[in-house]
Amino acid sequence: MRYLVTGGSGFIGSHLASKLSNSSNEVHIVDNLSDYYDSDLKELRTKWVLSNPNTKFHKIDLSERGITKEFFANFSFDTVFHLAGQPGVRMSREDSYKYTTSNLVAFENVISNAIRQGTPNFLYASSSSVYGNSKKNILSEKDKSISPISYYGATKLANEFAAAAIVRGTHTKARGLRFFTVYGPWGRPDMAYLRLINSALNGSPFELYGNGDALRDFTYVDDIVNSMLDLASELDSHDSGFSDVVNIGGGNPESMATLISKIEEITGQKISLTKKSVHRNDVTKTMADTAKLRKLTKWSPEISIDEGLRDTIDWASDNKIIEKLPKWIASVSDVS
Ligand code: UGA
Repeated sequence: MRYLVTGGSGFIGSHLASKLSNSSNEVHIVDNLSDYYDSDLKELRTKWVLSNPNTKFHKIDLSERGITKEFFANFSFDTVFHLAGQPGVRMSREDSYKYTTSNLVAFENVISNAIRQGTPNFLYASSSSVYGNSKKNILSEKDKSISPISYYGATKLANEFAAAAIVRGTHTKARGLRFFTVYGPWGRPDMAYLRLINSALNGSPFELYGNGDALRDFTYVDDIVNSMLDLASELDSHDSGFSDVVNIGGGNPESMATLISKIEEITGQKISLTKKSVHRNDVTKTMADTAKLRKLTKWSPEISIDEGLRDTIDWASDNKIIEKLPKWIASVSDVS
């Protein structure tokens, strides 16, 4: 099988590409190594991915129409995982255009070229942030009256509508993956868990937005990757032109206060907190309805937050990582 993983130097993309790499698969990863955070981290992930068999790296900016078309003209893929995009909900208004370029313009380029090449299966990164501050306790794909509160979430919801419309009448099937706060080794330095681990291990203060009662359905990256592979196989059984979206989360939210105390307990270090007001783009709670994921894959995320955090802290505690963490954390573009 020939796979394309866009955003393959990113957090989820690198884990997925590593898992896909084996003697019977050919895996192509594409990334533009954007400067949203230190490209050193992306280069290290790329090195890790390329240490696997049958993997090739292409440095491409997928918002460039001509270059993207040229790339797709060279290959036909069995499955495309489109994970490239501008992540994070809290980027400054000044930088909002990056969401437009990476999440809207690049999205249309990639899906249109995948269709032109006759790619059977197109799976792409969506986000729990499409739900906004829903009044519902459990966030279900069945709820059609959702309304994102961040522009990031709005671009992800736009992708879902666009994908359904674009694949109609083509040979391609599309599936949006609504990821719920994914964490794990090689994670993103803009996200709370990695910033907290850095604060615990390197003794720097952590800026906490709100008072610690925000709830997140933290989902370990291995569970995410396993779900993606099962969802890709299941998608293959549908008719051409099919499109849907699926939550990937465990349905077990934890508060930020709990996350902080678990990291303190595992590391044995007290984290010093600097309190900030709630960020305008942050939702108060996420909790995935896992019914559809369980129905399609007969499975749902199973790694507990304690186990996932222990593995992430083990990775971060390696000398080669711990000394780089402060630089990676500091590299994140200003949020306001
Ligand atoms: C994360 C990712 O950043 C998004 O890219 C992704 O789409 C989203 O998950 C998702 O699930 O769909 P989020 O859940 O907000 O977004 O995760 P964090 O960015 O780690 O933030 C979690 C909480 O920590 C928020 O309440 C945030 O305000 C808080 N936080 C974050 C801080 O208090 N301080 C920080 O330095 C960073």
